[in-house]
Amino acid sequence: MKRFAAMYLLSLLCAWPVRAVAADAEFGVGNLRCEYRVDPVGVDIVKPRLIWILESSTRGQKQTAYQVLVAGSRDLLDSGKGDLWDSGKVESDQTIHVEYEGKTLKSGMRCWWKVRVWPALGGGEGDATGKASEWSKPATWTMGPVETGDPSSPEGSAVASWGGARWIADPRDRDITDAGALPATMLRRSFKVSGKVKRAVVYASGLGAYELRLNGKRVGDQLLAPEFTCYDNRIQYQGHDVTDMIMSGANGIGATLATGWNGEHFFGMSIGIGKNPFQGRRGFLMRLDIELENGKRQTVITDPSWRSTRGGPIRAGSIYDGEAYDARLEWQGWDTGEFDDTAWRQVIIADYIENPKDFKGESVDRKPALRWQRNEPIRIVKELKPVGMTEPESGVFIIDMGQNMVGWCRIQVHGRQGTEIKARYGEVLDEDGTLYTANLRRARQTDTYIKRSDAMEVFEPRFTYHGFRYVEITGRTNIPWRYEPERRVYKPDPKHVTGCVVHSASPDAGTFKCSSDHVNRLMDMIVWTQRGNMHSVPTDCPQRDERAGWMGDIQSFSQTAIFNMDMAGFFSKWLGDVRDSQRSDGSYANFSPMDLERWKGGTPAWADAGTIVPWRVYQNYADTRLLEEHYESARRWVDYVHNKNPNLLWDRDLGNSFNDWLNGDKIKKEGWPTKGGEVPARLLATAFFAHSAEIVAKMAFLTGRKEDARKYAELSRGIKAAFIKRYVKPDGSLEGNTQAGYALALRFNLLPAELRPKAAKHMVNEFKRYDGHMSTGIQTSHRLMLELTRNGYNDEAYRLLNMKEFPSWGFMMEQGATTIWERWDGYVKGRGFQDPTMNSFNHWALGAVGEWIWRNIVGLNPDESKPGWKHFVIAPRPGGDLTWARGRYESIRGTIISDWRVENGSLRMDVTVPPNTSATVQLPAEYSRDVTIDGQAVTESPFVRALGMKESAVAFAVAPGQYRFSGDKR
Ligand code: BGC
Repeated sequence: MKRFAAMYLLSLLCAWPVRAVAADAEFGVGNLRCEYRVDPVGVDIVKPRLIWILESSTRGQKQTAYQVLVAGSRDLLDSGKGDLWDSGKVESDQTIHVEYEGKTLKSGMRCWWKVRVWPALGGGEGDATGKASEWSKPATWTMGPVETGDPSSPEGSAVASWGGARWIADPRDRDITDAGALPATMLRRSFKVSGKVKRAVVYASGLGAYELRLNGKRVGDQLLAPEFTCYDNRIQYQGHDVTDMIMSGANGIGATLATGWNGEHFFGMSIGIGKNPFQGRRGFLMRLDIELENGKRQTVITDPSWRSTRGGPIRAGSIYDGEAYDARLEWQGWDTGEFDDTAWRQVIIADYIENPKDFKGESVDRKPALRWQRNEPIRIVKELKPVGMTEPESGVFIIDMGQNMVGWCRIQVHGRQGTEIKARYGEVLDEDGTLYTANLRRARQTDTYIKRSDAMEVFEPRFTYHGFRYVEITGRTNIPWRYEPERRVYKPDPKHVTGCVVHSASPDAGTFKCSSDHVNRLMDMIVWTQRGNMHSVPTDCPQRDERAGWMGDIQSFSQTAIFNMDMAGFFSKWLGDVRDSQRSDGSYANFSPMDLERWKGGTPAWADAGTIVPWRVYQNYADTRLLEEHYESARRWVDYVHNKNPNLLWDRDLGNSFNDWLNGDKIKKEGWPTKGGEVPARLLATAFFAHSAEIVAKMAFLTGRKEDARKYAELSRGIKAAFIKRYVKPDGSLEGNTQAGYALALRFNLLPAELRPKAAKHMVNEFKRYDGHMSTGIQTSHRLMLELTRNGYNDEAYRLLNMKEFPSWGFMMEQGATTIWERWDGYVKGRGFQDPTMNSFNHWALGAVGEWIWRNIVGLNPDESKPGWKHFVIAPRPGGDLTWARGRYESIRGTIISDWRVENGSLRMDVTVPPNTSATVQLPAEYSRDVTIDGQAVTESPFVRALGMKESAVAFAVAPGQYRFSGDKR
């Protein structure tokens, strides 16, 4: 190493002319967001936070100051008047989470804002141009129906104010005892508008899932609103600008209400209707504010003047079971102003929501808070066309979407009036080519449709979602009985089928490609699995009767998820569910939302999502407000474990102790060791205890709790010492001698420096017992990969990544997988399916290897000491047979690119570092001969500073801009 350093220093002596400061000072500001969302409507946060991104290709660009203007109208903003807030010129490089500091905001107010910045060039401090950028394009946010609560509480204790709106429902909804397969409720009213509409905004919420319609059109494109929360704590509302949908004269507004997540046999909810005052309950709440050109205001609210029916076309709508739609029962024009609703009933006030009672009939003092939905709504994000159709049995048609996906099919249905079709959804086919549904357990995943006319009709369900690659369509065309049976069989046309990919629409953040088809396919599988498991909450799977916010799964997948998509809004929302599901003793649930703990909860690695996921959000989005919101909850969790285990080894109260779920010991294979792969449960538990305590110490420090910071840092050190004493031998081996145990001890930095290489060696030696394979489960497979690379075994990591034999990621692919499986051996050609009671083909936990791909193939690593990608490391580690890789990541501060290629013994690396950030760029030591930047030998410059050797790589401190690094093989 020493010799290398000397040679490297020598190479620095060759001159690389200092680049002149670019004359072109072009500097733009874009991608304006408020609370992570573009132009959000309905915000209930008293001091919303603003984000912008700097745009410039000039090297060394920074922001030295900014000015934000917020105005009550577009005109005022355009004329440069911030009547709500003019921040003035603020000397600061802050571009994210800039807190609104202006006048108190009122209910429904639309705030127009723009920002300009003062750049500095050349990477040096103090050489500001003195000239401000152009103003950004304007952006907006609209406040929700809030009274201004307590403005001293930054995250907004805004009190929802609904202008007298009431929760309404159909009279029959009062008696719901089994919310499963019930017809949807339809609610409506007409109203008159006298005058030209200047602006109209609607806020709505529901128990169950609702869809809002106005004058014959759907409002917005959100599906399954108000989405999934702990309904007895918090129900979300949604806001929409509907200015263009309201007319002068007669208008009609209506809502369809189905069960959604609130009832039936929904996992984690099924404690029985009546036990939870809200389970199965239905209701709808709405406020529509209209402002006329003549200055008058009009408000339409849900109240007893609405009419309802349960005699509409949706005969059943259920998350697990599907939707039954009888188009003959459609009410034409029900959502317009002309509709005659005398045949409908008068609605009831849903007093069971407004004044909930427990199952003994006594009032409960729990009133769910109405909160604005912070996360991106569930939407149709993509559409796919089928790749084929088969007929494995006469009259049974199976359409192949070519991709395991989540959502539903939009089907154009032909045939005479009364023709009935059934669409059953499944992920895989049985050996005889028929649909395999045993692994769905009790989820029926079946939609039905009956035609209303002889013309072509379009069927698309909205109150369900399915996990599937195949859809089986059967049916009968409604032609006279005297025709021979074959002519009555319904034959679908694949051209008439469209797969709608439905999920929480977090924006895509990462794109990845490399020279290996194998790795590209693996990343595709990971991303598709992510698309399949974001439905308001991070789920374990999208197909069987589960689909719950399992904490352990997202805990391991969280960083991969962040590389692939912008998860800031999604996690901000879900961490609220996590807190709502926390027990009073401090223990976190196994999954969130969790209604009443049916399970023990407090399970190592699962409950620890309550510390690990917010920490990821902080590392990647620098969200200190979220840390503040979450701190007490995380601290209570660590205190819970500590109180149960005062001697600092987590030996007692391991909840459901899922341990390293689905590890090697669960694999069925001849000759495969049946024991010894699973890490000792208490070892895993204590490792997570140390890690969570350390995170809480950091959170305490960052939120200004000095005393707690000291206390939890000490606790974490104590746990590490106890861990070493109990589990670690002087030769660096661990109790149980499992790959998983080493991965955890190394990943959570539990071992003294001198034992790390020894432990890593033991970890690698353990492959032998498994014929070169992993024996790890969902908590440790990606951690094993990360620690192999970190400890000098990068080749081993590539070997595992590229492996095609069982068990491995490649094996799933070889069996035809297009998403990541729950188990290493979900299906084995010749052997068949694993145990159908737990065999999903769309489970993201084992896909957490995506983190390794991003951190080591692309080489992107956030730096938590400068969170939110303010500073980061680009350190690709080429290996295996890869010759090139390219990753582009839309960070919260702009686009980061790492693009490398190895050719003729040289490595070239093109990197992009966004303005106002900095990076450490590392070239592997192997390629550190004759390093050049943009083809010139390296010397000091305002943009690039050589840092010497770092972790077997040669490192440079790099200012914003685009650079080409090259190095020859040593
Ligand atoms: C889920 C898992 C989850 C586990 C807990 C399963 O049914 O699908 O992914 O983490 O239960 O052991």
